[in-house]
Amino acid sequence: MSESQIKLYYKNATAELIGTEHGITPAQLKALAEETSPLISQLNNERKDGKTPYRDLPYSKEISQKVKGLVAELKDRCENLVVLGIGGSALGNIALQTALNPYMHNLDDTQHSSPRLFVFDNIDPVQFGLFLDWVSDRLDKTIFNVISKSGQTTETLSQFMIIRQLLLDKLGPEGLQNHVIITTDLTQGPLCKIAADAALRCLEVPQGVGGRFSVLSAVGLFGAAMCGVDIDSLLAGARDMDSRVSCEDFYKNPAAVNAAINYHFYNRGKKISVMMSYSFRLKDLADWYRQLWAESLGKAKDLTGDEVHIGPTPIKALGATDQHSQVQLYLEGPNDKLFTFLQVNNFDKKLKIGPAPDSAPELAFLAGKDLGTLLNNEKKATEYALLHCKRPCLTVVFDEVNAYTVGQFIYLYEVTTSFAGALFKIDTYNQPAVKFVREAIPALEGKSGCDEMGRKCEELAQQIQSLTKIDGDFLV
Ligand code: PA5
Repeated sequence: MSESQIKLYYKNATAELIGTEHGITPAQLKALAEETSPLISQLNNERKDGKTPYRDLPYSKEISQKVKGLVAELKDRCENLVVLGIGGSALGNIALQTALNPYMHNLDDTQHSSPRLFVFDNIDPVQFGLFLDWVSDRLDKTIFNVISKSGQTTETLSQFMIIRQLLLDKLGPEGLQNHVIITTDLTQGPLCKIAADAALRCLEVPQGVGGRFSVLSAVGLFGAAMCGVDIDSLLAGARDMDSRVSCEDFYKNPAAVNAAINYHFYNRGKKISVMMSYSFRLKDLADWYRQLWAESLGKAKDLTGDEVHIGPTPIKALGATDQHSQVQLYLEGPNDKLFTFLQVNNFDKKLKIGPAPDSAPELAFLAGKDLGTLLNNEKKATEYALLHCKRPCLTVVFDEVNAYTVGQFIYLYEVTTSFAGALFKIDTYNQPAVKFVREAIPALEGKSGCDEMGRKCEELAQQIQSLTKIDGDFLV
């Protein structure tokens, strides 16, 4: 088993580095430890009581065996795996692919021996239509994994209805059965009914595991395993982190410390949380984190029902790219952000910069240097500048990027989110406001009928149309 680890470094968020106005003082850290410590046993107990089933996913032999069995059956006849899903049903798959497969995985057959992966988490007709043009001639070598926990998400179901017809037209009912895997809640929802009716193969989204906490279930594991990711190592990394984030000593528990520091800064006006990866491979984990943090912590009411309108705004950034796009704002704009860098100590590749041209001897300082070292120096330069401007910074340090450390990262941030929710005293696992948009879409798409639901849809559609109608007086 890999020994590599990730660690959270927080000195650069303290008063020692950025002063008492913006940094955490030892007394504040002590107060945070006192406030957070009881939550460690609270979370551990909630887990024992089965209230946070995502915590046990890395231990489920049943899930990994089912996934591996299906992969063994399908892999040899699959050149393209197409995931249809959105939000928590897609972002983990994208993050695992970017982090753990070669950059040219989809394009260069010499870099992989497993299927290409395409994840469609949008319904843009141009993007999806052009892809369908490409895949239509390759259906016999393509598997579609339709992922929706609720089984009723309009975006995913409309994509599914397109490919269902395509498969039926081109390959018949048997083609549908052979080329579609449904991942859903097996107890409810239209997708589950469709799968049963057409005898489609299914994987389960476990009960009580929300989309954004589901990447270590079949939701993320199937796509990852199909495309060559070592899911045993991924899960082992998550289990390793489990022992660290269950530790009752606040100062040794990276999730508790991470959540407490984020909570502290939010309460002191730093309401924006920027995750800036200095590794291309980790950039989509920042995207995955963005959803986890936003949907879990953005809430109108606390647990007592009081209106609080809580929620740090997560932003993703990529170094060095965004040094030339965002960093001017980060340094001189409002001091309202906490920064979390993702740093990799050992990149898989050493890449030497070539010699300086004779015409530009001033570039000699770069000649022969390693590109990964330069990238890490760019991180240091940005961090130095932020500290100079008294902006608090955290760093998640990866020894290296592999399935084991990525498993650790995922689990660290899931449990950090649980701690943050407990500190903010909100329900971390629901997303009540999303229903406003979810309900509006069928209404606008013309869902109607004589029953109560149908009448409600018609009324809602009228309301929305009058609210969103373009008023020419305001067009310039
Ligand atoms: O985290 C969540 O619960 C959401 O982001 C869902 O994953 C997203 O809305 C998609 O829902 P579903 O998986 O039911 O299609």
